[in-house]
Amino acid sequence: MWTTLKAHHAAVSDRRFEMMLDGARAADFSAMAGDMRLDYAKTNIDADGRALLLDLLDKTGVAAKRDAMFTGAPINETEGRAVLHTALRNLDGGPVHVDGADVMPDVLATLARMGDFAESLRSGAYAGQGGRITDVVNIGIGGSDLGPAMGVLAMAPYHDGPRCHFVSNVDPADVAQVLRSCDPTTTLVIVASKTFTTIETMTNARTARAWMSQKVTDVGAQFVALSTAADKTAEFGIDPSRVFGFEDWVGGRYSMWGPIGLSLMVAIGRDAFHAFLRGAQAMDVHFRNAEWSENLPALLAVVGIWHNQICGYATRAVLPYDNNLSRLPAYLQQLEMESNGKGVSMDGADLQVSSGPVVWGEPGTNGQHAFYQLIHQGTRVVPCEFLVAARGHEDALHHQHQLLVANCLAQSQALMKGRDLAEARSKVADKFEGDELDRQARHRVFPGNRPSVTLAYPQLTPFVLGQLIALYEHRVFVEGVVLGLNSYDQWGVELGKELATALQPVVEGTQSAAGKDGSTVGLVDFLQAHGV
Ligand code: F6P
Repeated sequence: MWTTLKAHHAAVSDRRFEMMLDGARAADFSAMAGDMRLDYAKTNIDADGRALLLDLLDKTGVAAKRDAMFTGAPINETEGRAVLHTALRNLDGGPVHVDGADVMPDVLATLARMGDFAESLRSGAYAGQGGRITDVVNIGIGGSDLGPAMGVLAMAPYHDGPRCHFVSNVDPADVAQVLRSCDPTTTLVIVASKTFTTIETMTNARTARAWMSQKVTDVGAQFVALSTAADKTAEFGIDPSRVFGFEDWVGGRYSMWGPIGLSLMVAIGRDAFHAFLRGAQAMDVHFRNAEWSENLPALLAVVGIWHNQICGYATRAVLPYDNNLSRLPAYLQQLEMESNGKGVSMDGADLQVSSGPVVWGEPGTNGQHAFYQLIHQGTRVVPCEFLVAARGHEDALHHQHQLLVANCLAQSQALMKGRDLAEARSKVADKFEGDELDRQARHRVFPGNRPSVTLAYPQLTPFVLGQLIALYEHRVFVEGVVLGLNSYDQWGVELGKELATALQPVVEGTQSAAGKDGSTVGLVDFLQAHGV
């Protein structure tokens, strides 16, 4: 399956793809989902390469797996679970069955309860001991933090509810800094944890409870839980009326559409949150119905596979020219790397190709003044994913937005075109001559022929944010199916957790470090000598 593609790559890898790029290619190598446009014309994929890549989807049964996912089959085989985050945005309420039972009535009932609660907070009807809730602190980590934290930032122009803060790290600096800025009598704490056992979250939740109990008599009334573990939320003392539950078929990194999104709903309101869900639902419909050659998640996936598994480019930069998406790269790091960063295929055999790429990035134009040097002139190729809106939300500053867009388009052009030695020489010919001219010019050469894709959309509204995140989720799904791995478990995070638990008494000094490796013993000694 991979051999033909690799042979095709070998045959075309020296070609400069700019030479193929005319108007017809630009149209052919672009696709639309609603009014979102994906342009992948600035890559070395040609029509034959695309056909081979799309053939991978048929050979690996992506369509059947996709339908199995949407209809509640237990495709998370290592945990024996369905994968149904799509049910959380199935607003139009068609039935979705897990083990013979329709899950939609419960999903919609929870969404309605979330909406009522969020609106009562926003209106002041549900208040704290000191009056109207001014601050909401979401305590969670990984999928119970990154989605809502990214979303609240992304939706800043729509934020008209209480201030939202996010505490994730077990580092006391995180919780201390957030609590310092809040008044306990007007703060609501949301403890967001699918399992309600995660050590960072439970430790921070206890710290927040102690902080609040110094000033508030009925602390429980200002605590909310988002979890699948009703028994544990009760043990923590949170009244069931303020527990928003979900099922184990919602993976942590896929959970911002349901209760884990409560802080986002509080920030932007019920209606805007529903628009966010509708955007995702529209992408679900597109993913289920569009031909592969027009299907944005499928196309993004095959471009990713081409660059990573076929060309061997190990990383991918996500570069939003949309400052409100500043946490998107961090969000995608969990979504993509926790999902597809695996070396074993579903049947237990070693993976035949590399696992998913290292994903990283920063918003433009900031990144231009930091790491773009390496992207343009470094020895490794970094495929780039640009995101850009036609309009911002600052109408009076539209000229700045136009400058932002020009920068985005310029970067993908520069990556593709590069600058050869002759042109570089002409740029400095008035300053240098002879060997020095040559030497100086060589530093100014850009190899070019560096691939990128661009996702363009009219404006980052709640609907578009929903489209975008669902697009990335489905892209990860398609890549995972083609690679033959399980995108929905995360065994790779377990070993470190176990060892941290074992090391805690050693660090605290209640247990000897004897028997640990020499490096760890040396570090423990050093840290203890300095007061840990
Ligand atoms: O450690 C990884 C992980 O399990 C993630 O997959 C998850 O999003 C995060 O921890 C938080 O888990 P929980 O929501 O159960 O606290």
